[in-house]
Parts: sequence; C-alpha cells; structure tokens
Amino acid sequence: MEKIAVFGTGYVGLVTGACFVNAGHNVTCVDIDETKIERLKKGECPIVEKDLPVRIEKGVQSGNLSFTTNASLAVKNCKVIFIAVGTPTKKGSEEADLSAVFAVARTIQENADSSKIVIQKSTVPVGTGDEVEEILNSQIKSGEDRFFHVVVSNPEFLKEGRAIHDFEYPDRVVIGTNDKEAQRVMRKIYVPFMRTSDRMIFMSRPSAELTKVVANTMLAMRISAMNAITPLAEKFGADVTEVRRGIGTDSRIGTAFLFPGGATFGGSCFPKDVRALIAIMEESGMDAGIFKEVMEINHEQRMRFIGKILNYFEKGDITGKKIAVWGLSFKPGTDDVREAASFDVIRTILEKGGTVSVFDEHAKEIFRNEFGNVKGIEYCDDQYVTTKDADALVILTDAMEFRLLDLERLKKAMNKLVIFDGKNLHDPEEMSKEGAHYICMGRPFFNPKS
Ligand code: UDX
Repeated sequence: MEKIAVFGTGYVGLVTGACFVNAGHNVTCVDIDETKIERLKKGECPIVEKDLPVRIEKGVQSGNLSFTTNASLAVKNCKVIFIAVGTPTKKGSEEADLSAVFAVARTIQENADSSKIVIQKSTVPVGTGDEVEEILNSQIKSGEDRFFHVVVSNPEFLKEGRAIHDFEYPDRVVIGTNDKEAQRVMRKIYVPFMRTSDRMIFMSRPSAELTKVVANTMLAMRISAMNAITPLAEKFGADVTEVRRGIGTDSRIGTAFLFPGGATFGGSCFPKDVRALIAIMEESGMDAGIFKEVMEINHEQRMRFIGKILNYFEKGDITGKKIAVWGLSFKPGTDDVREAASFDVIRTILEKGGTVSVFDEHAKEIFRNEFGNVKGIEYCDDQYVTTKDADALVILTDAMEFRLLDLERLKKAMNKLVIFDGKNLHDPEEMSKEGAHYICMGRPFFNPKS
C-alpha cells in the first residue's frame, strides 16, 4: 500500500483517487473548494460518472479515502503526489491556463519536509514538467544537501462515462520519467491494474507529455477525416455508414472513432489537446496545417448540419418554429457540456427566431447554468414531452434512449415528422417509409412516403 495525495477533485482526480483506493492504496484528495470537499466527505459524488459514487462511498467507509482542504498536511503525509487540477483553455486564446498546476507545485515546495514524487496527470503542454520541477526545487541552492523532488508525467486516457473502467483496465499506462526510484514507485502503485499483462510503458517525460496530445489528436483526426468525406458521399449517393464498415474491418484501420455526424466532437479533451498541439508547433515555428484542418473540419461540419436544419424551412426562416433538441452534453453518460454541439445548435435556432424544447438525462441543469434561462428555451424532464407541437426534432448525442424511436408517439406529438439526426443513428430509407423527413450527414436522402 502506498500513501497517495491527489490534488484536484475533478473528473480525473476523483477517478484516480477512487480507483487507487479500490486497489488497496490510501488516498487523500485535496481541493481548495471547501463546499465540494464537504460534499465528498459525506460520500456525495459531485459529477456524473458511472461507478464512481459507489467507489467513493466504499473508499470513505474503509477509511482509506479522505478529502481535505489542508494541503500542507497532505503534502507532509504522502510521498507520492498527483497533480490533477484543471488546465482549461485561456479565454480568448489557444493556450492552456496552467496557473492551478503551478499553484499546487508551489504548495508542495513550501510544505514538503522530505523528497516527493510528483506526478503530473493534468493535460499540459510539452515542457511543463520541467517548469514544475523547477518550481519544486527552487529553494535548493547549488551544493546544498537537501531533498530533491522528481516530476513524472503520467497522462490520463480516460473516456468520460467509462473512466473507472478505463482506469482499471487500461490499454496502457504511460510513465514519463528517467528516474529509477520514481519508476519503481510508479510500477508499485499501478501493479494491481496489470494482472493480465504488463502494459506499463516507460519513456522520457517530454515523450509522455507529447503522447497524450498526439493520442487525442489522432483520434480527433479520424473523426474529422470521416466528417470531411460526408459531403462527397452525399454528392455521389454513397452512404458513409457503409464506407465506415468497409474500412473499419481492415485490421490496420479498426472501427473505433470513425463515426461522423453533424454533432461533431466536443468535450474537455479533444478540442483542447488538438489546439494545444497546434499552439506548441506554431510557437516552435512549425507548420501545424494538418492539425488545424482537424479543428476547421469539426467546425465546418457542425455549421453544415445547422445549415441543413435552417434550410429545411422556407428561405431558412425558422421564426416561430418550435424545435425539440435531444442531448445537451458533448456525449452520453456524462453531465459535461464543454464544447458540446448543443450550444451552437440552440444558440442559432434562438437567434433566428425559433424556440427550443430540450432534454438530456444528466446535463440539463449544468447546461441551464451555462446557457441560462433565456427566452425561447424550455427544459423538459421527458424526451417525448419536448416534441409536443414541435416542427422538428434534432438529435445531438448517441445516448441509448435515442437509438430507437417511438415513431407513433412522435407522429402524434409533432406538427410534422421532421428529424435532424446529428449522430446518424437511424436508417434513412426506413425512416422515409415511416413518413419521416429524415436528414443526417453523409447518407442518401429519401423522400418521405406519405
Ligand atoms: C477523450 C479520449 O477518448 C480519452 O482517451 C482522453 O483521455 C480524454 O478525451 P472523452 O473526451 O471522454 O475522452 O470522449 P470520447 O469518448 O473520446 O469522445 C470525444 C468526442 O468525440 C465526443 O464528442 C464524441 O461524441 C465524439 N466522437 C467520438 C465522434 O464524433 N465520433 C466518434 O467516432 C467517436
């Protein structure tokens, strides 16, 4: 068992802490947000993440998971310290805001009374590990016989909604450090998750930092490549879903992350990491063209989808029309709405004079907080209630409850059966047979049978 401190109780910090405790370690989670810490102490989970609430409850009951705002005590008590605080993109810039990471580094530096292994889990630009190590060791004067703190990069590859599973059954654990003692300790803390095979990959710290942004950029590139193909498929009457199956069965390509759609990728990681890679390359005087294109395609595809919604109505006039919107989060199984397609879609409909009636199983309240209770938006607790007297339905996530439609109910509720499917969930021909005007991306359109 290792005594571990985790700074930051967001998605990454909480999942990391809860999974380490479940594997037999002792974890202290630290945050500056007192209200959040009080809720966590009571066993309450502040985010929607499958299996996390039970892990937290079990951890607190066992006495091996604790929550505190007392950073100094946590630093003194633990040799292993994870930094998992937020690194949001700075407003009006492409750069990540690293102030929280540096603040934790200073806290460790000020309170440590022995040498620490500090593990950087927050996504940061390449080279940040060097800066953190510099802050941590800033009081050491040359020649002074004092402890030295080591910084390890250990990026997370957790998908929201499946984060516990991804942590406990990782494809790989990337450890960026050349320090032998740090490597030994990292192996020890991750060994419970390596029972089937050793999937720990040791590398230098910059390589690990780069691995994280490149992994997410590669996945985002696949999605953008598929999105870029959708107008071509539409032009030639091809179906991108068939193309996806055709190429995904090539074992060199594989099936994952090839789903195109009008509700293009969002979340806290893909947009941020691709932008971060572009920023580092440009700062270094390199051409990031290929990666810039990934973001541009993502934006253009979303706009093309919104264009299809508007253009359905005569002269693009959506004034007075009621649009039902299903799915507010950036993907199902989470309440995270960061960079979700819902913002662009809903904002445009409202700006053009339409109204919206929205549903999301988990993200309604968070979306309401972000977007506000503005005029023209109605928040519903039932997905079908949104469709009453609606002129169209827009689907924005591939949540399980959107994959089969109660068409009879929709026909009765809606003014006309018009569906814009941002995730290509349904069969266009089948939908037309049901009398639906069904529009998605990169698939043929069939006139609705009356
Ligand atoms: C991602 C990475 O998968 C994870 O490894 C990393 O550490 C954090 O970022 P996450 O942001 O939780 O995880 O979401 P993910 O499931 O990867 O989806 C990202 C976005 O891409 C979502 O908006 C999703 O709807 C979209 N997506 C995904 C597609 O549009 N098409 C696909 O084929 C797959």
